[in-house]
Amino acid sequence: MNLLQRIESRDFSIAVFGLGYVGLPLAIEFAKAGIKTYGVDVDQVKVDKLRRGENYIQDLDDNVVRDAVEKGLLVADSNPSSIASADVIYVCVPTPFTPNKEPDISFIINASESIAEHLKPGQCIILKSTTFPSTTEDYVLPILQKSGLTLGVDYFLAFSPERIDPGNQVWHTGNTPIVVGGVTPECTKVAAAANRVIIEHVHEVSSPKVAEMEKLLENIFRSVNIALVNELAQLCDRMKVNIWEVVEAAATKPFGYMPFWPGPGIGGHCILIDPYYLSWLARSDDFVTNFVTLAAEVNESMPYYVRQMVLREIAHLPVTLKQARIIILGVAFKRDVDDLRHSPALKVMELLSEDGAENIGYIDPFIPELTLRGNHLEAIPYSEEVIASADIVVITTDHTLFDYEAIAKNAKLIVDTRNATKGVKGDRSKIRLLGGGA
Ligand SMILES: NC(=O)c1ccc[n+]([C@@H]2O[C@H](COP(=O)([O-])OP(=O)(O)OC[C@H]3O[C@@H](n4cnc5c(N)ncnc54)[C@H](O)[C@@H]3O)[C@@H](O)[C@H]2O)c1
Repeated sequence: MNLLQRIESRDFSIAVFGLGYVGLPLAIEFAKAGIKTYGVDVDQVKVDKLRRGENYIQDLDDNVVRDAVEKGLLVADSNPSSIASADVIYVCVPTPFTPNKEPDISFIINASESIAEHLKPGQCIILKSTTFPSTTEDYVLPILQKSGLTLGVDYFLAFSPERIDPGNQVWHTGNTPIVVGGVTPECTKVAAAANRVIIEHVHEVSSPKVAEMEKLLENIFRSVNIALVNELAQLCDRMKVNIWEVVEAAATKPFGYMPFWPGPGIGGHCILIDPYYLSWLARSDDFVTNFVTLAAEVNESMPYYVRQMVLREIAHLPVTLKQARIIILGVAFKRDVDDLRHSPALKVMELLSEDGAENIGYIDPFIPELTLRGNHLEAIPYSEEVIASADIVVITTDHTLFDYEAIAKNAKLIVDTRNATKGVKGDRSKIRLLGGGA
């Protein structure tokens, strides 16, 4: 039987390189489908946890992870040699940017080199890490070609971007359609078949480049639309018009419009980074992505804007910035997740600290600790007393478990960057909404 036939008869195994927010849920989906799954991660802590059957990804069920490990369906290792036993290899490693915001695909390169070392006939490699168009063909393929094996005959290579949305209760791996583009038609066929084992709808495209570009389009679409409302929020603030009410009203239009909400900025490992991946690549084609870059710039300016809001409010208080007790409520990069990467809340804290604020604390049950300008900070447990003790409470992430009615009742002053206090009835005079209104 060839690889395609083996996949179609469910007689194959997979390996997942990179067991983070993307890789572990993917590995678990395959294990749940009864497919033998090898997980490889350079992070020994993660590997050790998995070997003990312990889960570390919030959206995954602890029992499902334990079950997969106990049944031997998920085998974790930090040694990439285990991929030699796998038929289909998914690559889910990070794609950050450098300090000066250029793409850093070194993790993809390292993973590809490890795979090339163990590549054998009959394997299919599927890159899932978000990256700039041409990565699969111009960077991964040449590394795999060093093996001497023939692409499309001995082995297969495709790009199939990830769409996981941590914290989303409706759309998960199984029911979210996915795109796949192979380097050759046979590569597409094999990679699509592997995806179909766990995903209902798989959309095939003509090349990895199309798949790479469509992923950037998805994320940049969000970046641009969020930037638009973030800019309007700043205008509405000056005009004393409530942007939240404006967006809510616009959203009643049943066609041609979809709501995006303003906020303190964007974080996470995707929407913030991806515009820079594209603008970097565009330069090599003598093209400047003005629109995309402008959106990134507006979004990145939002924590600075929130800092200004906070400073403006403190200026009216009988305390100095240095003395003011500032409580940051919610620091994860978005609601109900435990991910702090590139969080705008952290940026707001850094900026206020740079300005001289010495009494900053934060409340976030999802983020027990963090590092602020080299200092270790632990989350303060939520209590009405803590809220009441603050000179100003800044809501930067609108986790659903917070009781905003009680917060509004106890706080002296609130800067709400998420409209989390929307449902608060009664006296709203101490609430300052990002984007105007109270
Ligand atoms: N997190 C999301 O919501 C999301 C959604 C869609 C796409 N993506 C994309 O998926 C990719 C992975 O993101 P993530 O959030 O899962 O990152 P992550 O940091 O949570 O996980 C990546 C894992 O890869 C491991 N790793 C690094 N180098 C390795 C190597 N050479 N071999 C084996 N393991 C290695 C790291 O130790 C880490 O555990 C990124 O390109 C990201 O842009 C992420």
